[in-house]
Amino acid sequence: MAVFLYQAGEKMQLIKVEDLYYRYNNSNDWVLNGVDLEVKEGEFLVIVGHNGSGKSTLAKMLNGLLVPDKGIVKVMDNQTSNHDEIWDIRQQVGMVFQNPDNQLVANIVEEDVAFGPENLGLESQKIRERVAEALKAVGMEEFRRYAPHNLSGGQKQRVAIAGILAMHPKCLVLDEPTAMLDPVGRDSVMSAVQRLNKELGMTVIHITHFMTEAIKADRIIVMDQGKIALEGTPEELFSQVDRIKRYHLDVPQVTELAFQLQKEGLDIPSDIFNVDRLVEELCCFK
Ligand SMILES: Nc1ncnc2c1ncn2[C@@H]1O[C@H](COP(=O)(O)OP(=O)(O)O)[C@@H](O)[C@H]1O
Ligand SMILES: [Mg+2]
Repeated sequence: MAVFLYQAGEKMQLIKVEDLYYRYNNSNDWVLNGVDLEVKEGEFLVIVGHNGSGKSTLAKMLNGLLVPDKGIVKVMDNQTSNHDEIWDIRQQVGMVFQNPDNQLVANIVEEDVAFGPENLGLESQKIRERVAEALKAVGMEEFRRYAPHNLSGGQKQRVAIAGILAMHPKCLVLDEPTAMLDPVGRDSVMSAVQRLNKELGMTVIHITHFMTEAIKADRIIVMDQGKIALEGTPEELFSQVDRIKRYHLDVPQVTELAFQLQKEGLDIPSDIFNVDRLVEELCCFK
């Protein structure tokens, strides 16, 4: 699995978005309205924001499925507006979407995962290696001979992720990959994604409306009306419950509880987002 590993030390910039504007079909409304963003190699970035704030449009910009009306999107040294560079960019930035059923095309899991490397023109031994490695990375190796329709939603999403991994991208962009899953499926996908990031150093950009997923990030950005409205670590963002709510977002339940207790005059910190931490703080009052 060493192929996914990145060297420790200074993190390189992988994606740079500069002053990005976009509107669909020349409508009057800018869906992306001046976005600036840098993503570093190995980072786990979460994007949140209410419906229609431009998250999916931004995601599609990152691998050149859409190209800017104004501004630039760069992936390493390539720009999405340069037609010749799109192929390289698509290989470096893989996308996973919400609906697992729309993403699996073959009748057998391993054939599905092989689809990407086959398109890259790799020889069959290499393809087999990549398929095995990618399925292992998402914990789906024992399902390699299964038909996708016999898998659960979470398993299908992990196969979809494996299909992207088999192309050896530098970055995974996941657009609400857990939105259609039950809690068990959601956990299995999140665990796989976190493992890819933490153990294999994969850069992850994860769009979600589940705040319990957002707290796993190195950095969160909040989109609002086509702009980045807030940005920070989970601790920085969730210590501003009132501000988060202004953008019609939830905060984790435990954070809300800590916030309300603080409002009632209890002397506890404002950046609590897991139960253990709240219990620890409350135990101080024993
Ligand atoms: N294909 C499309 N054609 C026209 N308008 C679109 C299209 N896709 C999205 N939009 C509009 O762009 C805005 C942002 O959408 P989107 O990027 O999907 O936001 P989000 O993912 O945050 O919900 C919305 O107002 C949406 O209606
Ligand atoms: Mg969306």
